[in-house]
Amino acid sequence: MTEDALAGLLAGMTVREKLGQLTQLTPEYCGLSGTAELTGPAGAHPLPPSDRGIVGSILGCSGAEQVRAIQQEHLRRDRNHIPLLFMADVIHGYRTILPIPLALSCSFLPDAARRAARIAAVEGAAAGLHVTFSPMADLVRDPRWGRVMEASGEDPLLNSRMSAAAVEGYQQAEPGMPGVLASCVKHFAAYGAPEGGREYSNVELSSHAMEESYLPGYHAALEAGASMVMAAFNTVDHVPAAANVPLLRDLLRGKWGFSGVLISDYGAVDELISHTVADCGKTAARKALDAGVDIEMMSTHYLDQGEALLDEGALSPQALDEAVLRVLRLKNELGLFEDPFAGMKAASEAGQMDRHRQAALDIALRCPVLLKNENGALPVSSEETVGLTGPFALEKGVLGGWSAGQTEGVSLWEGLSSRLAPQRLIYGDCGSLGSLLEGADDIPPIREEHLRRQLASCQKVLVAVGENQNDTGEGASKTCLRLTPRQEALIHTLKAMDKTVIAIIFSGRPLELTPVVEDCDAILQAWFLGSESGNALGQILLGHAGPSGKLSMSFPRTVGQIPVYYSQLPTGRPPRPGGSTRYAARYLDCPSGPLFPFGWGLTYGACQLSDLKVEDEMIRVTLSNTGAYPARETVQLYIAQKAAAVARPEKLLKDFRQVEAAPGEKVLVEFPCTREMFSYPRLGRQVFEPGSFTVMAGLNSSCLLRCSLEMSPERFDALRKEAL
Ligand code: GLC
Repeated sequence: MTEDALAGLLAGMTVREKLGQLTQLTPEYCGLSGTAELTGPAGAHPLPPSDRGIVGSILGCSGAEQVRAIQQEHLRRDRNHIPLLFMADVIHGYRTILPIPLALSCSFLPDAARRAARIAAVEGAAAGLHVTFSPMADLVRDPRWGRVMEASGEDPLLNSRMSAAAVEGYQQAEPGMPGVLASCVKHFAAYGAPEGGREYSNVELSSHAMEESYLPGYHAALEAGASMVMAAFNTVDHVPAAANVPLLRDLLRGKWGFSGVLISDYGAVDELISHTVADCGKTAARKALDAGVDIEMMSTHYLDQGEALLDEGALSPQALDEAVLRVLRLKNELGLFEDPFAGMKAASEAGQMDRHRQAALDIALRCPVLLKNENGALPVSSEETVGLTGPFALEKGVLGGWSAGQTEGVSLWEGLSSRLAPQRLIYGDCGSLGSLLEGADDIPPIREEHLRRQLASCQKVLVAVGENQNDTGEGASKTCLRLTPRQEALIHTLKAMDKTVIAIIFSGRPLELTPVVEDCDAILQAWFLGSESGNALGQILLGHAGPSGKLSMSFPRTVGQIPVYYSQLPTGRPPRPGGSTRYAARYLDCPSGPLFPFGWGLTYGACQLSDLKVEDEMIRVTLSNTGAYPARETVQLYIAQKAAAVARPEKLLKDFRQVEAAPGEKVLVEFPCTREMFSYPRLGRQVFEPGSFTVMAGLNSSCLLRCSLEMSPERFDALRKEAL
């Protein structure tokens, strides 16, 4: 449809029809059948029969047959024949479930994010969806918050690259992989920094932290072409995002030039009342419209109050038309006016999982992080007899939250037993999943003698532990991040049996592993890897594939340290070797650093870096693998500035590169120097201050090679702007 045709369509619409285009509800609320996966606070009132079919988009309904039926019924009713948009949370896959985004970010492979999103788009489009509320570009530094599972970690560069790649995967079809989903990047802004890690809490961040750390991920997603933005629940500078004019009008639409559709989060317009910035639905509607929120999700104040706001002059007809036109343009860009069913025709729903299973496995293989590996624990040889116990040994609920209604993936037992002779894998029954996941004290103790007998023939024992996948995601903040008492006791029991203890951790967040780390000879952080979970873990544990993941989020020693992340400012009294043991930035009762730092992850190889140098505006370092196994390592480049107008982190990730090294191989790794590396954002500008910098390279953020670099204005001006 041409712009003129859209304008003509708009001109012929009634005010109520326009307000309907700005309203999104689940099918039930429109009197339609639907299998909405309700998220957030349920509630809201069903529309009166006279209003059914008035809304412009549907939340959380998918399935080609169902979508087709609802769309056909809607088009029959709607005198303007404006198709519905179908939007849902396709966060890490639709039918084929991929690793949770936090796991995916540990691959340090933006291409893996792109491929995962492409699979999700093909399957979601075939099921009639048009928009996915993904990627979540919220930077996260507090594992008490359950939604860290949906994020890409604590570093702005990694978050930006993963978010941009996901947008490209959703929106750019490829030969043989037709079907697109418009990407709605969320939650704008800084929902990942709730006070206390408490869900829906408000956010207290400095403007500098917002600009340098929390905003870049959204900006990168928009630079990659994201079609929509979702405003967050939380306040930013004490104003809820859904009513935040400086954030939405001035920054997002003004400075960043975003002209697409802005949607509220679930009920967030209505929640302006609870936030005490609106005393009624009409004020809430007015403030959200003033801020530029186009679509109101799961409340109907626009529909109920819009006409009165127009009559009172509190809403201008022009502002209303601008919002509706953005929605109509999105429908037009998706081709819905020409064919509302095009996406479903591109590929059928049938057989999708079989087509994508191998790709899901390839991606899942890149995400587990080997945190510890001593005493020859891993890999397990197929000649060895190995025990498997723990609540996740047989568990198929390993998809993670937001799995689009899917519930099961390949279990660890299935992934191992399909690769080992029966006599090589011994199951140790340690009690049911529930008993070992709950903290209740009325559960019988571990049957130690029974377990001892079962595992008598095994020196190595795999113990699969973690948190229930339902305890992660939205509404899942926790103050205690330890394994349950029984799981910790199980690990201690196995250690007391003098076994080689190999812990596999299933979780959607960094857990507090300090109580068990010494009893484990090896620890593999498995996250929730999706449909192919057990197969990926089986391959890695048996050495058929090597672990290559790196932590995108620090693991605290204790919750008491939070927030603990690698790029914290140095303070005026950083702990120094030989310095004061009291009057320094430290705790009395705990080391300051994390248990496992950002960027940490072992391989089965033995890799070191050497010969770090800067020459011809290229940073070069050599990776050597002196081990007996091949290694896929992520070389990380960090920069520090010795003196600036503002305090600067002791190190900041500026680039990373994944390289493979065979046993005995040396690999030269090069990073082009860029202006972005030697400058920082401040008050809307990229600031460069000539002077001394430290260039650092490492295989994690704590063990780094360093070299100094003087950067003059002339040298800076000669650099390329950003990494290609
Ligand atoms: C939720 C979430 C948001 C999701 C939306 C629709 O409450 O905050 O991430 O996209 O509702 O399900």
